[in-house]
Amino acid sequence: MSNQPIGIFDSGVGGTSVYKEIEALLPNENTIYLADSANAPYGNKSAEDILRLSIKNTELLLSRNCKLIVVACNTATTNAITALRASYNVPFIGIEPAIKPASLNSKTKAVGILATKGTLSSQLFHNTTNLYKNDVRVIEQIGEGIVPLIEAGKTLSSEMRTLLTIYLEPMIDADIDYLVLGCTHYPYLLPLLLDILPNHVKIIDSGEAVARQTKAILETQNIINTQTSTARHQFYTNGSTEVMHLLLDKKHKVEFLKF
Ligand code: SIN
Repeated sequence: MSNQPIGIFDSGVGGTSVYKEIEALLPNENTIYLADSANAPYGNKSAEDILRLSIKNTELLLSRNCKLIVVACNTATTNAITALRASYNVPFIGIEPAIKPASLNSKTKAVGILATKGTLSSQLFHNTTNLYKNDVRVIEQIGEGIVPLIEAGKTLSSEMRTLLTIYLEPMIDADIDYLVLGCTHYPYLLPLLLDILPNHVKIIDSGEAVARQTKAILETQNIINTQTSTARHQFYTNGSTEVMHLLLDKKHKVEFLKF
């Protein structure tokens, strides 16, 4: 069991930001990554469609013998992880916006959250926010159009800068000191975000926390890979292999797969 791969899926290439954290923390683990780019973005889809796509991705990963599944997509986590956990007999790790640390540490008592419509309108997001925000103002912004630009390979383009400038302006006006990235595609925007935001604003995402949680579950379930032979990392996309290559080390091979 321990050398079976960890399965990771996302609506597209963004979840590779989570894969990188997992690979750094768990270098012995074999992984299989699925980018469902043909169906990206998930953020504007109905909860039923997000669940249907999440089931499709899960079943493909299970057919490849994965021992644990990381839902490396905020939209799929907030809309589908409860049903996935109830239906399949493997551990699922999800990703949720880091509202808790941002609210706890905010001095200006204002934090911004950039995420998809699917995440911001989900019950899970509302429950977490209400639980942790206390006296902090949470300024929510839907990142309409961001994921399609990243999926088109235009991550640091002038179109992206224009969109981000519009989306961040109300947050800057509200004097946020934390920006929470609520989508696994968004860590790739870091150079633009750092350029647009005032210097004192800290940017947080949940990729590292997901890697730590994955390690903890592998340990408690005694399925961590202790073999030190070189780990195998497989990447599959039903979209553009070129765009995915842009975000990964050159050593990784990305294969096209219809799913
Ligand atoms: C999307 O597909 O719209 C974004 C994925 C995410 O929420 O992480």
